[in-house]
Amino acid sequence: MRLQHWLTRAVLGFGMTMLIGVGGMQAQSSATIHFDAASKVFRIDAAGTTYAFGINDAGQLQSLYWGEQIGKDDHLSAAHRMAGVASFDSAETTTPNEYAGWGGGLFVEPALKASFADGNRDVVLTYVSHSIRGNELTVRMKDVSLALTVDLHYTVNPGTGIVGRSAVITNDTNTPITIEQAAAATWNLPHGTDYSLRYLTGRWAGEWNLQKQNILPGMTVLESRRGSTGHQNNPWFAIERGEQADEESGDVWFGALAWSGSWRITVEQDQLQQIRITGGYNSFDFSYKLLPGKQLQTPIFYGGYSHHGIGEASRMLHRFELSSILPQAPMPKPRPVVYNSWEATEFAVTEAGQESLAEKAASIGVERFVMDDGWFGQRKDDHAGLGDWYVNQQKFPNGLKPLIDKVHSLGMDFGLWVEPEMVNPDSDLYRKHPDWVLNFTGRPRSEARNQLVLNLARKDVREYVFSFLDDLLSHNQIAFLKWDYNRNWSEPGWPAVAPDEQKAVYIEYVNNLYGILRELRAKHPQVEIESCSGGGGRVDLGILGLTDEVWPSDNTDPFDRLRIQDGFTYAYTPGVMMAWVTDSPNWVNERTTSVAYRFLSSMQGSLGVGANLDKWQPADFATAKEMIAAYKQVRETVQHGSLYRLISPRDGSEASVTESVALDRSQAVLFTFLHSSQMGYPFPRVFLRGLDPQQRYRISAIHGAMAKDTPVEASGSYWMAHGVDVAMRGDMQAAAFRFDSSSNTNPSR
Ligand code: DGJ
Repeated sequence: MRLQHWLTRAVLGFGMTMLIGVGGMQAQSSATIHFDAASKVFRIDAAGTTYAFGINDAGQLQSLYWGEQIGKDDHLSAAHRMAGVASFDSAETTTPNEYAGWGGGLFVEPALKASFADGNRDVVLTYVSHSIRGNELTVRMKDVSLALTVDLHYTVNPGTGIVGRSAVITNDTNTPITIEQAAAATWNLPHGTDYSLRYLTGRWAGEWNLQKQNILPGMTVLESRRGSTGHQNNPWFAIERGEQADEESGDVWFGALAWSGSWRITVEQDQLQQIRITGGYNSFDFSYKLLPGKQLQTPIFYGGYSHHGIGEASRMLHRFELSSILPQAPMPKPRPVVYNSWEATEFAVTEAGQESLAEKAASIGVERFVMDDGWFGQRKDDHAGLGDWYVNQQKFPNGLKPLIDKVHSLGMDFGLWVEPEMVNPDSDLYRKHPDWVLNFTGRPRSEARNQLVLNLARKDVREYVFSFLDDLLSHNQIAFLKWDYNRNWSEPGWPAVAPDEQKAVYIEYVNNLYGILRELRAKHPQVEIESCSGGGGRVDLGILGLTDEVWPSDNTDPFDRLRIQDGFTYAYTPGVMMAWVTDSPNWVNERTTSVAYRFLSSMQGSLGVGANLDKWQPADFATAKEMIAAYKQVRETVQHGSLYRLISPRDGSEASVTESVALDRSQAVLFTFLHSSQMGYPFPRVFLRGLDPQQRYRISAIHGAMAKDTPVEASGSYWMAHGVDVAMRGDMQAAAFRFDSSSNTNPSR
């Protein structure tokens, strides 16, 4: 077993056989879910990870183990409800529950809290039954006296061992139940005080900051109360154990919530040093009236474990997203090179202006031309037009067709910006339907960017939004929608329904958003969609199940982007991370950078161009053409390969380096950045990772130069152990290299 286990790990470490479908690899890993009737222990094994819980003597589900895979024959002792502590901490509190109702004497974070019509607010869940079907386990629990049942769903991804958990709450009583808190899952870690938590914070144009803090007694709350995912926190966490954990070694538990509405993840170290992570709907301002016979389904909370540091944890998430989450999973197409008009023209789009940009974009190898905001209604600026989705006659006298035809004639496909969930008060839609927005009757309606939020929970609003998008896609040859969402909620009232049903807006809104996206995709399967929310305000595993890419930030400064992109990749794959080359000096920091620097920064993700090409010089076009051609040779590796963050741009680092390795290890791409040389020190030697030690790789420069004595070709072990010196000095410098093995037969590389 140890040998077999080591083999699994070795394979994991090199990223060889793990992928299911992505990049042409076949699935070779499998998962097992087993119930031992004697000990009443459930055990889920996949990809070197074991997750186990049992039914304890009180009938509760109790976590037993989550971590590196243990031997097949290793016996996990039956679950035993833990003792309480004195008269103050009850057994409910001290027992690591898989999913606890607030009831009995529970003082830690509950997964479920409910009020019954008779005033009872006590929920104590115990095991009823279970079923195992392939990679899915469902365990039914029920309150000890009332007909409130909870089905806990577990799915396991064979390639990564990532477990997806969610709950379905059913009211089988004959009176309504008010659900006041509903989590998807609680994850428990072994007792200890040497854990640290990583999480992502941000704001508009400053997203994806990686934070790290020790987990101390008490609770850390990561959340959004904004109605959508939000820039402020992202629904992702990672927990490392011990001081030794680093990028490529140590135990890491991680999780991500698939929900694009208000959410909450709590990380708790309780009074007995037990670590619990609970996540699901945000309980703030939450209440869901569950009628008799009805069900409430929670989002899915995914969790995984890595024995090889946070770098491997990220790669597992990347593989999981590409192979199982994205709409095109398990084989997402590479993202095309995009041109987007926003920074060039803002709202001043016209047929002639867009055609001129399109010609120039096509000349450098762009594959998709996207017209951003400004093409519809009376949209001169951000004060008017949202909601009126007809083509602006002054700007496009003959509709969109001439521009779309022109874009097609240039060999590109056409994409269009929309912001379907919003309305400007200065719009025909709002004048006709002022009741369609989120609002409290008779109260002020707070505007942000001069717009209000349409209440998508309403049936009529949902129908309107679906039908205008359906029309747009049915009557125009559109290959791509950039779906924007430029504010968060205020006054989240829904006056059309009874007061005790209004808070359901937090759930129904998002479910209708998902429903619209799902139906549009089914009816227009050729259309790809980007999730954008003033940059990275709506990025999560829920929206990623229905969109093909995301816009991580409105901040397009290529230097800031290094940190933004670094933070992004902790949770999300570079395969969905759009990154544009824009103008210099950049509007964010007035920083000046070369065209090559801007390209190399953007080439770490899905490359786009957002510069005003009408102002470019011939030399800029020449560089762009070369860079785009080079990118097309490596994009499969960058977008779908294994990412190694070799030197982080965080914490004032003077240098940063990333490496992407193709899944079959036939190619690697290295991006190196020097922020400013100091004291004449050389650039740190770069030690590659993840190559096949036996294969020989030829190095070539995409841009910049390696040290003169660098061999033209060497083994994978040479590049990993000896490393490579990059010849780079100065300020805001960048270089990139590719390493191709002799077995690289893929013509696109
Ligand atoms: C915010 C987006 O993030 C930008 O890229 C751009 O599309 C503007 N909205 C348009 O209003």
